[in-house]
Amino acid sequence: AAPVIAIDGPSASGKGTVAGRVAQALGYAYLDSGALYRLTALAAKQAGVDWADESSVAKLAAVLDVEFSGNDIRLNGTLVGDAIRTEEMSAGASKVAALPAVREALLFRQRAFNTLPGLVGDGRDMGSVIFPKAPLKVFLTASAEARAERRYKQLIEKGFSANLPDLLADLQQRDARDSQRSVAPLRQEADARLLDTTHLTIEQAVNQVLAWSRE
Ligand code: CDP
Repeated sequence: AAPVIAIDGPSASGKGTVAGRVAQALGYAYLDSGALYRLTALAAKQAGVDWADESSVAKLAAVLDVEFSGNDIRLNGTLVGDAIRTEEMSAGASKVAALPAVREALLFRQRAFNTLPGLVGDGRDMGSVIFPKAPLKVFLTASAEARAERRYKQLIEKGFSANLPDLLADLQQRDARDSQRSVAPLRQEADARLLDTTHLTIEQAVNQVLAWSRE
């Protein structure tokens, strides 16, 4: 199998940006696993399926018609754009992600991204469940306040309205759900390197991961 760099961590820690840039620097493929849970939540909403309806949501996840090309994601042939980046879909993703049958349905789809010359995967369970043999595992985090500020800037840049106290509360609620669920709870694996980006620039974080990948 091709080498995998598994980057896991809590919401808005900068995983996506760092993982994407590391992938680009190494010429590796990039798996945004959170997007799959967000797309599942969106598909359920569009189909009128309740996010708590485990078997129905899992069926949707199993047949999800998604296509990733560069930064573009298509669901059923239609560009998704920022429709999966809203706070509503963040919460929906976190809810459907707590359902074991949904995680099971998305398992092999994620492993299929592991092609030569290599893959950078970002999510919650890249190093624990999807790619447990990854030679490099990174647990990327930052203080809750720093993460809420990053998410705030991101949402404002996309033209969404947002307020910091609500975002911080959402984020803490989601962190709690992600780390307390029974399947694939968010936690640092024993063999993962800790990267706290609270006081790091994106470039510094990217360079640290690249340095580890060369060891
Ligand atoms: O950008 P952010 O970290 O806030 O979200 P994301 O990575 O797109 O993930 C959205 C939600 O999907 C998370 O809150 C998790 O509940 C879930 N998720 C997961 O359970 N496992 C993954 N590998 C990736 C995301």
